[in-house]
This record gives sequence, C-alpha cells and structure tokens, in this order.
Amino acid sequence: MRRECLLAALALALGPLSAFSGEERLAPESLNPASVEFTPLSPALQDVSFQETLPSLPEEKGTVPFSPFSKLTITPVSRVSALPVAQEIVALKTSPELGNAARSLIPKRLLSEKKGTVPFSVNFDGAHADNSQDSDLDAWISQEERVALSRMSKNISPPGEAKGAVAASPSRENPDYWYHWVRDAGLTMNAVATLYQNETNHAKKRVYLKMMKDYARFSRNNQTTPTLSGLGEPKFNMDGTAFNGAWGRPQDDGPAIRAIALIRFAKALISEGNWKLARQLYDAKLPTSSVIKTDLEYVSHFWKQTSYDLWEEVRGHHFYTQMLQRKALLSGAELARMMNDPGAADFYEQEAALLKPEIERHWDEEKGLIVQTLDQDAGLNYKKSGMDAGVILAILQGAFKDGFFQATDDRVLSTVVQMAETFKNLYPLNQKADAPGIAIGRYPEDRYFGGNPWVISTNTFGQFYLRAAQDYAAQGFIEITARNLAFFKGLNFPGKDNLRPGLKIDNLNPLFDPILNALREEGRRYLETVRRYANPDGSLSEQMDRETGMMISARDLTWNYVSFLREACEGRSCLLNPFPKKPKNP
Ligand code: NOJ
Ligand code: NOJ
Repeated sequence: MRRECLLAALALALGPLSAFSGEERLAPESLNPASVEFTPLSPALQDVSFQETLPSLPEEKGTVPFSPFSKLTITPVSRVSALPVAQEIVALKTSPELGNAARSLIPKRLLSEKKGTVPFSVNFDGAHADNSQDSDLDAWISQEERVALSRMSKNISPPGEAKGAVAASPSRENPDYWYHWVRDAGLTMNAVATLYQNETNHAKKRVYLKMMKDYARFSRNNQTTPTLSGLGEPKFNMDGTAFNGAWGRPQDDGPAIRAIALIRFAKALISEGNWKLARQLYDAKLPTSSVIKTDLEYVSHFWKQTSYDLWEEVRGHHFYTQMLQRKALLSGAELARMMNDPGAADFYEQEAALLKPEIERHWDEEKGLIVQTLDQDAGLNYKKSGMDAGVILAILQGAFKDGFFQATDDRVLSTVVQMAETFKNLYPLNQKADAPGIAIGRYPEDRYFGGNPWVISTNTFGQFYLRAAQDYAAQGFIEITARNLAFFKGLNFPGKDNLRPGLKIDNLNPLFDPILNALREEGRRYLETVRRYANPDGSLSEQMDRETGMMISARDLTWNYVSFLREACEGRSCLLNPFPKKPKNP
C-alpha cells in the first residue's frame, strides 16, 4: 500500500480530527520550495536557532524551510521575555515564492516559557495577494491557460522515461505520483488530440502528432503487458512496465477514457485523409491488435462487472465510469462505421443502449441526488452520503451529443446545488468572509490528505455553471421544476422569488438573460477561488488546504491543467468539447 493510502488508513483508524488536525499533519514534500526569513531584532535573540520539527532540516541560520504545517521552534540562548520575541514576529518575511502567504508567527506558550524552547505555530493564509491584485479575471484566465498548457506538456513523455508516458505529477514522494495513470493520461491526451485537431501552425501540429503517436504506442504496450488486473489496470510505471503493488484494481473508466482520446485523434486523422494511421489505431479485426478496438471490446464486454471508482477507493458500479463507458461506446460506434466495421458498430451501440437504464438507476429521487456508487462490494466503508464530485466530472467529460444527462437536466441541477451547499459548510476555507466562491472536494467524507478541496473539483463546478448557461442559451428556454427550483433560487438575480415549478421561461421572458448571467457569475466565482489559491507562478497542486487554501499534495498535477483548460471555454476558444452552436436534443 502506498504511503498516502496508509495515512488515509491511519486517519480512518484515528478519526478525522486527531489524525490530520492542524500542525500535526505531515508537510507534504510536494510543497513549494519556500522559506521564512527571520531577522533577529532584539539582542536577547541574536543567537536564536530555528528548528523545524520535521527531520532533515538544512541548518541555515535565520532561514527555515517553511510550510503551513511546520512547527517552528525558537531556542533562545538566554532568558527571553514575551516582548522581544513578539517583535521578531514583525520581522517575519516569507520568500517570494509564497507571496504574502505567511502572515505571522503566533507564539504558542510564550508567556509560560522562561528559557528553553519556545514553540511557534505559523498563522498561515494560503491566499496570494498577488493573484488578486489584478481585478481582471479574464486576463488571469488567459495567462493561466498558457501556464496550464506548458506545465501539462512537461509531464508528457518526460526525459528518461518511455515515450508516450504521461506522469500524473512530478511529485515523487508523499504522494508519489510519478506514474502513468490510465485515467489521468487519457484525459490529458484527449486535450492534446483537441489541440492537434485545432492547430494550424505546422510545426506545433507536428509536435502534437508525435505526442499522440507516442501515447498510442505506449498505450498499446500497456494493453499487451501482463498486469494484475488485465485491461482495467489503473496505472503503469513510467518506463512502461507493470505496477504490481497493492492498489484498487481494476478501474474500468480507464480503457473507456483511453478509447475516447484515441477515437478523437483517429477521427481527426480521417478528416485529414490519413487513413493509414487511423487503421493502425482501429483495425476492424477480431481478434484485434489495435489499441482502440481492444479497449472498445473490453468496455462492451465488461461494463457489467464492478470496478474501482475514479478515486480508486470503492468497488461498485459508478455513475462516472458508466457515463464514460457509454461515451466511449457511442463515439467508438461512429468510428467503427467510418472504418467499415458495421457489425461492431451495432454491437457497441447495443451495449451503450443497455448501459442507459443502468446509469438512470443512480438517480435517487428521495435524496434528490445522482448517487455515484451502487452495488458496492469492496473498498472504503465510510462514504455514506452518496455525494461525489465525480458525478459532475462525468456530466462534463461524458457528455455525448444526444444530450443524455446534460448540464440542464434537473436531476443534475439538484445534485449540484446540494453538493455546493454541503462543501460550503464543510470547509473552514469557504466560511471566510472574503471567500470568492466555494472550494469543492472529491466527496464530503474524504480523508485523503486530511480531506480537502481539490482543484479539479472546483474547476469542474465552475465549468459546469458555464456549460449550463451555454446549454440554456442554445436551448432557448428554461423550465423550472420541483427538482431544480432550489438550484435556481440559489442563484443571484432579481425576480427569483417569482420562480415556481411549472414555469417555462423562454428567451423573450425578462428573467431569461438575468438567469444566464447569474449562471455565468456563479461559474466565475469558482474560477476566482482557484485563482486566489493558485501559486503566484500559476502552478497548481492537487488540493487546497481546507483551512488556509494553501496548495498541497501532488504539485503540478497534470489533470489540474487539463481541467483548467476546460475552464476557459466560455466566449473563447475551448480546447475540450467545444460548446455546440446548435441546440442539443432537448
Ligand atoms: C491513493 C489514491 O489515489 C487516492 O485516491 C486515495 O484517496 C488514497 N490512495 C487513499 O486510499
Ligand atoms: C488520486 C485520484 O483520486 C485519482 O483520481 C488520480 O487518478 C490519481 N490521484 C492520480 O492523479
């Protein structure tokens, strides 16, 4: 078991409060390099030495490696009183990487200490003043798009590893994410396939082409490498060899996501007349030796079995997994027809049709929720609410043009508003008076790294509202129902008190535009949240500390950047799932 999983298991044993509360938490190695500079002001403290409670401290006088979880200890040479030490607090400066993040050192037991060790804790606010100085969110978004693109690319085929491998994050320890996760890689390469498709500059296009070809080859190699769970194997070593440690396996969203990315690429190739390469990706044979068809055969034959969820913790039937399986089958059927494989196309469509009622089963009318997992038969036992941001990820990533479970579905809206409310109350971060919006986690009961909001979840909620606005605009009307009433009442626009179930608001109704604007504003508040806690250089780690917002866990998470690229869709070029101009099927 991985260290982080052991930590989570420990948290489970001790209960959420004791295991990860405040400064008892381990400082993840992935924290940004940073330090606190200490300028001794008073003579009594001239010779103080700093110590972090964490081991392996480089003893550089006056400077300590810093994290919000560090316990700083000051050991004065002689008797000190409260005053001079308090003055030192004024002199606290943080390194530029942290911006103005560390606000003050709070003496813990200062008055009772006479001589000896004085423990301090750092009062930390993860918000970066720098990020908010420029009030223009749009400017920040376009800048962040460039950061996301370049940092995402760095994790694709990094030097010294197999070509086509995509690291989930450069973090090698606590957590170790230096692996090719089939899910993360597939979502990433789906973005690259879109970049390839849209690129007009020849040199850049060739770079994306090479990335895609390497990824296809690497993926085919994964499929033929013996692993503990076969095609549903969740992750591989970066040199392409099997990862055989204990893990939640199989994870059946993986082959579906891999297929979706490569199908997108194959269709782009076909539109350019490159049938030769497309046929290497899909060979229309059985048994097949091509990467896409291998995954489609697996998805169509194995979707009925239970597998581990996208968070790798619970085995069952998951809304997320099934939505992506369905999308893989339907877009796969389209490709199969193009490749003159009509029998297969029929079969994939037939299995997709069987999946549909299975997906519908996740709607729980009583709870007003699309429940992520049904038929659980292994894994964590404390996920009780059924709420899971993976459901909203599924709405965006699993959207197919037939409009099944699209963003305007009242079951989806009901799920979103309840989750937003729950996460709002859950994290101290969201209670801050100046919180721009709500930071969202994976699911409320989460204990991994103490249970924090995640960048991908928060981005996804932001994009969700923007997507809903787009879909309503295209559809031309909004229907208020008993299920979605609370969602619309939660938005900020004049006249919302007049809403009642049964009301149909068409685009001539004076409420229509204010509602669309309110949806967009709500979406942008999530982006503001990510902006506030992003590192000043735009880099993004997996999680935001639930109290301070400080970036924690895996740094430069590849998936973060992908989810960010989805964010900037509204009103500008969108890298993923470009918003349809025509209404979808209502
Ligand atoms: C690692 C998994 O990737 C993560 O999703 C999970 O929460 C932890 N292990 C704890 O089980
Ligand atoms: C843990 C997340 O729960 C999982 O979804 C992801 O695939 C891995 N980390 C790698 O990023």
